Amino acid sequence: MNERTVEWTGTGLRLLDQTKLPGKIEYLSIETVDQLVDAIARLVVRGAPAIGAAGAYGVALALLEAEREGWSEERREEAIDRIRDARPTAVNLAWAVDRVRPAVAQGVTAVSALAEEIARADAAANRRIGHNGADWLAERLGTDRPLRVLTHCNTGALATTEWGTALGIVRELNQRGRLESVHVDETRPLLQGSRLTAWELDREGIQHWIQPDGAAASTIMSGRVDAAIVGADRIAGNGDTANKIGTLGVGLACAEAGIPFVVAAPTSTVDLATTSGERIEIELRGEDEVLELAGIRVAPVGSPGFNPAFDVTPARFVTALVTEERVYEVAKGDTPAGN
Ligand code: MRU
Repeated sequence: MNERTVEWTGTGLRLLDQTKLPGKIEYLSIETVDQLVDAIARLVVRGAPAIGAAGAYGVALALLEAEREGWSEERREEAIDRIRDARPTAVNLAWAVDRVRPAVAQGVTAVSALAEEIARADAAANRRIGHNGADWLAERLGTDRPLRVLTHCNTGALATTEWGTALGIVRELNQRGRLESVHVDETRPLLQGSRLTAWELDREGIQHWIQPDGAAASTIMSGRVDAAIVGADRIAGNGDTANKIGTLGVGLACAEAGIPFVVAAPTSTVDLATTSGERIEIELRGEDEVLELAGIRVAPVGSPGFNPAFDVTPARFVTALVTEERVYEVAKGDTPAGN
């Protein structure tokens, strides 16, 4: 993909506006902390590693704004906290802000250089994840036949700084001539699957079908796919995995069908401080996202909505966790915390 999701311009951030895709390729110039917090909350930039990179550059942005506006140290720190807390579930955001924060005293150049390092490391990690995942699948499935996979949400170049995590494995399989097709869950309510993943696959000429989220279980149970590959927003030490709402159902169906349920994520998504999934905060989003379609209310005016953005798949359903360092066979007890 030629477009970059997140870029530091020297005076602010340039974000590819993912709310406009696939219809329009538009960039948003971010010059203030308020604008960045709003962009993260509205999913202009989204996907755990991408919001991590945006948050790291955001600390440099807060320093520039503090200088320009004559903020007190307290006000500057409060602004950095607001970036860190803009979305609660993806640990990469807090992780990246915490990584660059110690450099605040050294100024904008030091902070933006560290943020650049985080972005570059993410791109490199994604390539390793792609290799590790493709190798593991080849060995586990033990077939030369090109694979048919299912994915949920968007975990591609749009969700990261380059290439992608789960979609990075899909890309790697494709480059090896080992991919037949991809079933793409549309990913209600914000359609990261049908708007974003399909856009990335279409541009690469990868055969795919967009299906309603409700079709995932029957696609899996009827033998139409060989494995499901998804990303993660936070992985607890015991392997419980938070990812886009609907992922849990995919994991359950894979367990029932006896096919691999593969989670792909950089180690920056593993949160050893969170010992198990019930401790992961799940973002609750506004009900309008569920009650409306393209801004038009389709639900009865008296009906309220319930809109959790993520769910947690218990470790026992995670066949493999693919990171840039290694593959954990989580369901067999091989967890990041090492139990
Ligand atoms: O709400 P989103 O679009 O930010 O949710 C994204 C996901 O759930 C992804 O699967 C996850 O962040 C991994 S992206 C490599």
